[in-house]
Amino acid sequence: MGDASIGAEKYAEAGCAACHGDDGSGGTSGESIRGVSAHELAEVLLRGEDEGEEHEGAVGDDDGEESDGGGQEMGMPAFPDLLPYAADLAAFLSDQAGSPAAGSQPTDTGSQTPPADTGTQTPPADTGTQPPAPTADGQAVFDSICSSCHVLGAYDTVGFAPDLSGKGSLVSTKFGGGANHMGNTLTDAEIQAVAGFLNAN
Ligand code: HEC
Ligand code: HEC
Repeated sequence: MGDASIGAEKYAEAGCAACHGDDGSGGTSGESIRGVSAHELAEVLLRGEDEGEEHEGAVGDDDGEESDGGGQEMGMPAFPDLLPYAADLAAFLSDQAGSPAAGSQPTDTGSQTPPADTGTQTPPADTGTQPPAPTADGQAVFDSICSSCHVLGAYDTVGFAPDLSGKGSLVSTKFGGGANHMGNTLTDAEIQAVAGFLNAN
């Protein structure tokens, strides 16, 4: 989740309002961008949008008044510096989307972009944010299965089987590929989780 107040600040600083309106509901040249997702925002900030280049002229461009020149006049410039604030901007714009506006429906009218378009460029800011969370609880696995036999450092000092402290890397040698160790099997996620737990104790 982004911070809407930071988003509002960046929105004002960067001059988005000049084209999209004070609240993102549309201004002189931009369409309404309320309710845009952080992902979509990141992409637009990274690449900009060249209006009309792909929407029009598909059928017949005989009367091409302006061909593919510089074409920067009505397009959306890129704001790569704002990439780290994509989530904040999205929070700001979604706050606005929730405000009571009688005339306009803040539904997903803006999502006509084909999925192939979005998959081409992943913004770098997006990837580093989420740490890989283990899906299994290593401590729970140890407590319920291993602790009856094994010692584990200072965490579990009672047991007849070897101390597993710091021996996470050995877990897969006992359980890898669905192998049975003393009548127990573990899923891959459990192996990973309990290995992490052993290495931490
Ligand atoms: C110079 C005018 C201008 C400025 C400044 C500007 N935009 Fe845009 N923006 C546009 C235009 C034009 C489009 C393309 C609209 C279209 O595709 O019909 C666009 C498109 C977008 C879209 C994509 C909308 C969609 O549904 O695809 C987003 C999101 C967006 N702008 C956000 C921003 C943000 C955030 C800022 C400030 C950092 C900003 N814009 C600044 C003109 C501008
Ligand atoms: C029924 C008793 C028992 C249970 C339950 C048990 N183990 Fe063991 N484990 C042993 C014994 C005995 C050994 C030593 C003999 C061997 O290596 O096979 C051992 C050896 C190991 C070793 C090798 C240690 C070394 O130093 O070489 C690892 C790793 C291990 N167990 C992990 C686990 C994990 C993880 C669990 C729980 C998911 C578990 N064990 C459950 C009895 C058990």
